[in-house]
This record gives sequence, C-alpha cells and structure tokens, in this order.
Amino acid sequence: MSSPHARAVESALAFWAETGVDACYGEEPVDRLAEGAARLKAKAVTPRPAAVAQTPGSGARQAAPDVSAAVEQAKAMAAEAQTLDALAAAIAAFDGCGLKFEGAKQAVFSRGNPEGPVMVIGEGPGGEEDARGEPFVGKAGQLLDRMLEAAGLKDRVFITNTVFWRPPGNRTPTLAEQAVCAPFLARAIALVRPKMLLLAGGAAAKSVLQREEGILTLRGRWFEWRGEDGAVLPALPTLHPAFLLRQPAAKKKAWLDLLTLTERLDRPGRPE
Ligand code: URA
Repeated sequence: MSSPHARAVESALAFWAETGVDACYGEEPVDRLAEGAARLKAKAVTPRPAAVAQTPGSGARQAAPDVSAAVEQAKAMAAEAQTLDALAAAIAAFDGCGLKFEGAKQAVFSRGNPEGPVMVIGEGPGGEEDARGEPFVGKAGQLLDRMLEAAGLKDRVFITNTVFWRPPGNRTPTLAEQAVCAPFLARAIALVRPKMLLLAGGAAAKSVLQREEGILTLRGRWFEWRGEDGAVLPALPTLHPAFLLRQPAAKKKAWLDLLTLTERLDRPGRPE
C-alpha cells in the first residue's frame, strides 16, 4: 500500500498530466546548447564499443510499432458485424491489440442503452471492469452514473471505451493500442447511431478527435467527429470521473459540461 505522501505526489502528478502539462521548468535557465556541445565533444574522444552501438534500439527513440496490418484486420472484422452482439464477439476474437496479452482477463465492450442518444466514450477498462466485463463499473463509473442520473441521462447513454482490454497497471493506453481498437469503436457508433458523443478524459478526447491539446483546453467545447462512412456527430470532451475523484473541486466544470450536453440534446429541432 502506498504512503499518504506517495499518494499526494501521485495525485498531483496525475492532476498535471490530465491538464496537459508534460514538461517541468527549473528556476534557473539551463544552456542546453552548451550541454549538447560538451556531450558531442566527449563522444568524439571516446567512441562507443561497436557491440553497444549496434544493439537494436540503443540510444535512438524506439520507433512506433507498425500497426497498419492490425488496423486493417480490425476494420474487416468490425465491418462484418451487423449487430452489437456480433461486434462484441468480433472484439473478443480479435488478437491485434497487444493489451489482450498483457494480463487482461477478458474483453470489455459496452453497457447501457443501445438506443440511447448519447454515447459515452472513456479511456479503457480498469481492474473492476476487467473483472466484471463491463465498462465504468468501478468507483469512477459509479460517480459517472450519479452524474448522468442527476443530469437526466441515466437511461439515455451507451457506454464504451477507446480500448477494450485493461492496460496493465491502469496506465493510459498508447496511441497504437487506441488506433487498432478504433475501427471497432467506429462500428459501434455506426450501429448505435447516437446523436452525440461525450468523451470522458484527455485520452479519449485526443484519440477520438485526433487532437493534441490537454483536456482542460478541450473540455466543454463542441467538436465534430467524422466517421469514414461520412457520418458527422457533435462530440463534447469532459473531465474523466477518475480525475474528479482525485480533484473534487473540478466537478463543477464536469457538471457544466453535462448541462452543455443536455441543452443541445433536448433543444427543439435537430441536435446539430
Ligand atoms: N475508466 C475508463 O476510462 N473506462 C472504464 O471503463 C473505467 C474506468
């Protein structure tokens, strides 16, 4: 069990990561050019041993894995699914996402109303979801349910994630993992035909909308999700309920987002 100090540090880091802060600055300026020049000079006088220099991946950044074959396979399997049950079976049978083989107990696809006008898309299953086979059933999911109920959306949502297997240690799924799962998510949208998408958290918002900003910049603003079949849907990023559990003061922002969503959903005429 981690100490209160470690938990406080984890919470603070999670807060900054969630808000999009990915770099730290010191009080004093650092001359990186001078540092780099010194390193180059040192390198010139002490050549690396050939064996080390030839080790694959040493030094250089690891290239992103080529997932195009897995994406094509996911597209083909997703396209064949004519119902949500068939899609759930296709996901369970798909071997192209590495997460399936990193300790996940089962595939976790969806819960909620398949005829609901709102599709909630989260990041990926956690421990409770992995054990039960349904998304958002742990503490974060219970908070999500309370918020949806308070907003009058309880029975009007279909809930799923950007990836369908639990990332080990509940880490954020990689872009590659999200990319190979994306055709199944797109097919779910095509089968459910929601009126709008609610994107819970930065990882979901960035992946679904192909944006790079942090969630505090994206949240509360309408974006367009465009499917390969030409479908266009309004999509609203909001804060992830797990983040709200760590930072309860941010609940007000998430509540405003839900009001933004329901206002558009229940506006007379088309939601667009
Ligand atoms: N967090 C998510 O993003 N999805 C879940 O299903 C559970 C927790």
